Amino acid sequence: MAERPRLRPVTIATRAAITAVHGFLPPDVLTNADLARMVDTTDAWISERTGIKERRILKGEGLGSSHMGAEAVRGLLAKTKTSPEDVELLICATTTPDFVHPCTANLICDMVGIRNIGSFDVQAACSGFLYALAVASQFIAAGTFKKIVVVGADKMSAIVDYTDRATCVLFGDAAAAVMLEPNAEGYGIMDTVLRSDGSGMKYLHQKAGGSRMPPSAETVAKRLHYIYQEGAQVYKYAVAGLSEVTHEIMARNNLTADMIDWAVPHQANRRIIETAAERLGLPLERVMFTIHKYGNTTTASIPLSLWDYEDKLKVGDRLLLAAFGGGFTWGGAYVTWAYDGAKAPKLNGGHNGKNGGAA
Ligand SMILES: CC(C)(COP(=O)(O)OP(=O)(O)OC[C@H]1O[C@@H](n2cnc3c(N)ncnc32)[C@H](O)[C@@H]1OP(=O)(O)O)[C@@H](O)C(=O)NCCC(=O)NCCS
Repeated sequence: MAERPRLRPVTIATRAAITAVHGFLPPDVLTNADLARMVDTTDAWISERTGIKERRILKGEGLGSSHMGAEAVRGLLAKTKTSPEDVELLICATTTPDFVHPCTANLICDMVGIRNIGSFDVQAACSGFLYALAVASQFIAAGTFKKIVVVGADKMSAIVDYTDRATCVLFGDAAAAVMLEPNAEGYGIMDTVLRSDGSGMKYLHQKAGGSRMPPSAETVAKRLHYIYQEGAQVYKYAVAGLSEVTHEIMARNNLTADMIDWAVPHQANRRIIETAAERLGLPLERVMFTIHKYGNTTTASIPLSLWDYEDKLKVGDRLLLAAFGGGFTWGGAYVTWAYDGAKAPKLNGGHNGKNGGAA
């Protein structure tokens, strides 16, 4: 019997493009000098080993990640003149949800007046925003939705032990959100790579508070509700993981380093970013750095960098997003930018409320 001709795959022309970005930074600043008064550390050690100079801390009774997420989403809706009822899906990436349940995405929707749509959280630690972006982009490319909000929000100060000098210097609080819409001109999320390896759990986790070890007087007394990290191990895996996904995504999209306009790495440690960029042959002028101002803001880190550098982004710019985090989880995305950032509407008197703009 003659072989049936194979059907050629249909090319999906519609891509999910990031059409706006907005962030929220709590006003309270925690500097390296402040930390040096709290634990046995110095500004020199923190700056040299991590690149961090200061970070933001969310203060205020009863405020959780949802507060910052809602502020970021409110700004995003205002900037894009989007009515809450036009949003069709909201995904929140967070590692520090307000509650075990309900999810933080539900709370954010309620706070900003988005009703009767699906909303859910994605938990993939520092790679959470990339994971959420990958999920959301599928709904747009499939034609299911035309307006999706993806927000990363983390109040890391809620799970940081401010007596542990090895971790308390690293993290900060923030949120940032992007709008995803269809783009028929070929700009948007071109490709994503997601990876995980649960055996990495032993190097980075929070021991108590989940179903395996519910909270008790003993877990509190033993300080088990904070981030536990073996920094040197995580460092090693982070460099390897970031290099792996960025090489893979570049190879399968026929990209060379000179074609990348901006690398947008998760901001965990300046030295990790520099090493990964060097391995790719990317000059540091084309790498976004915000770690000095905000520290590691976990799921907010990547969209916060996009917000910080928004004015510099032009239509057609090729961006390489990459993240690594607890789990372990890691991943990358190749994105072509869909709008001129300099022409984007500005809130708060033109500087978007940021602390000094891009580095
Ligand atoms: C945490 C990190 C900055 C530590 O830097 P490092 O160069 O690996 O340092 P080490 O952990 O090996 O510690 C070196 C020394 O500095 C000390 N040290 C740790 N934190 C310190 C601090 N804040 N101030 C001063 N000294 C400190 C250690 O106690 C150790 O001292 P010792 O040699 O006397 O034992 C680094 O490992 C890192 O960034 N890891 C990856 C973190 C990460 O990406 N996490 C999130 C994933 S999203």
